[in-house]
Amino acid sequence: MDKSISEDLSAKLNVVFAKANDGDQHDVIVIPVFEDDNDFGSQALNDGITDLREGAPNFKAKPGQVLSAPAKHLGFSKRVVLLGMGKASEMSRKTARKIGKTLYGATSGLGFEEAHLMARVPSDLDNSDNVYAEIANSAYAASYKFDRLKNDPPAKPDDPAKFETLTVLTDDVEPMEQVFAHYNAVAKGTVWARDLGNTPANMLYPVAYANHIKAVMDKVDGVSTHIITAAEMEQLGMEAALTVARGSENDACMVVMEYDGTGGDPNATHVGLVGKGVTMDTGGYSLKPGASMPEMKMDMAGSAAVVGAMRSLAEQGAKAKVTAIVGLVENDVSGKAYYPGDVIGSMAGKTIEVGNTDAEGRLVLADAMTHLQREYKPDVMMDMATLTGAAMMATGYNRSAIFTPHDGLAQEFSDAGERTEELVWRMPLDQVHTDAMKGKNADLSNMGNIRVSGASTAAAFLQEFVEGDTKWIHVDIAGPAIPASGIASGYGTALINDWVTENYSVSQPAQP
Ligand code: BES
Ligand code: MN
Ligand code: ZN
Repeated sequence: MDKSISEDLSAKLNVVFAKANDGDQHDVIVIPVFEDDNDFGSQALNDGITDLREGAPNFKAKPGQVLSAPAKHLGFSKRVVLLGMGKASEMSRKTARKIGKTLYGATSGLGFEEAHLMARVPSDLDNSDNVYAEIANSAYAASYKFDRLKNDPPAKPDDPAKFETLTVLTDDVEPMEQVFAHYNAVAKGTVWARDLGNTPANMLYPVAYANHIKAVMDKVDGVSTHIITAAEMEQLGMEAALTVARGSENDACMVVMEYDGTGGDPNATHVGLVGKGVTMDTGGYSLKPGASMPEMKMDMAGSAAVVGAMRSLAEQGAKAKVTAIVGLVENDVSGKAYYPGDVIGSMAGKTIEVGNTDAEGRLVLADAMTHLQREYKPDVMMDMATLTGAAMMATGYNRSAIFTPHDGLAQEFSDAGERTEELVWRMPLDQVHTDAMKGKNADLSNMGNIRVSGASTAAAFLQEFVEGDTKWIHVDIAGPAIPASGIASGYGTALINDWVTENYSVSQPAQP
């Protein structure tokens, strides 16, 4: 079979904005219904909707409620979907997101190719362009399905049509399109991150992954991408990352992406992003149990969130300066693999005793962080990684764990998490954790000498590789990136995108 990584995205819904024309006939019409507004613009529509609602008193137009029915008596459509919107005065981006998801659920199974959404604007609805753009974008995100590795089932004559297009009917075509493009840049980044996570390790191995990132990014305006080969890593002294990769037949590599949307503004804060890209984590000689191994193809989710965010930021034309690095390796078992008990070096010069070959992510991140800081000198650095089972146990699937000595950074991430619904929770990073990571026979141990707070000790290990006055935050996404469904969530792309744009945008790009 074809083992190349597809550049197509697995969310397939087309979103189109168009003006409504009198007399148009539709297969499916979606009519937003607000709790506090009952004027649909014409007597016929008012009567038709009143009729429908009389037959379904449970439909109260609460956000995310739907009422789906045949609609022949409306005269211009075969099916009608009444879409609950709640109160117009209480609409928020979060609510719009929820509504978009239900919209997709209600329209995708109807057996029609297209649905038309009537973007009604009652007088109490503010920012209606944003509201409908978010609804459409959320429907787009909900259309995600990773089925590219399945053959299409043979077509049967009575197969229902697949839902493919959502057309938003509005008088505000251009402004709505613009907001949609802005939101959709983030959704596309997230979908890409999901696709990367779901692509199995026999297809997505370090060099193939790096080439794919470069091929995609080279088509995005404003990002320059380059691959650091294994030989170059060797020259740079990246012994920690290379040691993890040593047991694998597939070479390690790193990818650097640079984006500057500030027009060279000298006052811009330079943001650095680091992602863990372990394309397969068997655990090495500290082998993982078989049952938990397949999902370790997603141990590159931190890197996927970072590359997804770089793509989103650039496609939005964010006015920020961001440099990202992802470290790509496989953690395998072989005659060449590293052993528990080995003492290895690192690019920073610190020696590390390997207590456990399954604590590999921090070894890769350490060298990536060192290189990013020495070569690119970011003011603030975030690393994102599926780093510890302990973080997953602590925060579960709906929050990541954040670690930082800087209260301000923790607050920025909490706020970004609330806005994007990619929630975070701050966890301790204390001297006891730092002390626990001292090696017996080396500067550091990758395992530590306490059996508790494994997420915090991992963070404390990484902190040893923060240089100078670089501000730093570590985000452990082991829970939310790899949810119980076993399907990659793409968690992190929206979070990073929001964090950067809200906190590190220059107000006006300087004139070059
Ligand atoms: N990739 C794993 C962490 C992980 C586990 C992510 C489960 C998602 C779900 C990481 O490389 C790892 O194995 N960490 C070890 C560290 C330990 C050996 C100190 C862990 O968490 O058990
Ligand atoms: Mn591991
Ligand atoms: Zn790992």
